[in-house]
Amino acid sequence: MTQILPSIFGADIMHLQDDIDFLEAEQTEILHVDLMDGNFVSNIAFGPNQIAAMKQNSKMVFDVHMMVDHPKDHLDDVIDTGAEMISVHYESTPHIHSMLQKIRKAGRKAGVVINPGTPEAVLEYLLDDIDYILIMTINPGQPGQTFIRKSLEKIRNTKKIIGDRKIQIEVDGGVNKEIAKECAEAGAELIVVGGALFSNDKKAQYDALKDAVK
Ligand code: DX5
Ligand code: ZN
Repeated sequence: MTQILPSIFGADIMHLQDDIDFLEAEQTEILHVDLMDGNFVSNIAFGPNQIAAMKQNSKMVFDVHMMVDHPKDHLDDVIDTGAEMISVHYESTPHIHSMLQKIRKAGRKAGVVINPGTPEAVLEYLLDDIDYILIMTINPGQPGQTFIRKSLEKIRNTKKIIGDRKIQIEVDGGVNKEIAKECAEAGAELIVVGGALFSNDKKAQYDALKDAVK
């Protein structure tokens, strides 16, 4: 089953609780939460304290996408937020294995993230240590970017690399309802949407997105 994962980075910060309440009323299972350090990416967004506060006020599963340099210095704090899914960028550390193993040891689902310029072949030696693969479909850090079409080929290739394993493919960046459908057809099961959901009519946008990946 393909799922839409709303990205809280796209929500209205002045009405965050309203947006969280809306997503829960819509039976959202997983919330995508960005953590940006101003170094790995230029933007700065939700730190562990803010994520923990959101988590305490929500029933959703939290999927924390770590966009930070030196993830080992932040991982304990992210685990302490209570997030059930945690992903680390392949490009952010020379020790991706140990990051993934630490996430699993803490009883959480471990994800590896690859940037648009990173080939999917790097996933091969990580397959025993991951529950999901997050394929960035924009350059991470800024909302409102255009989906990189070449990502569809990367999703299909990644699906082949995964084979029969129980590993899910997630996509993030520039997704609207038409693109969500294409990503789902290519093999993505977890589809992150920010800007295209939190616009004028959230309810209509969300319904259309869910409908597109049915
Ligand atoms: C961007 C973040 C995304 C962001 C996506 O670096 O990782 O999660 O919220 O926003 P849209 O869907 O608007 O591209
Ligand atoms: Zn993200």
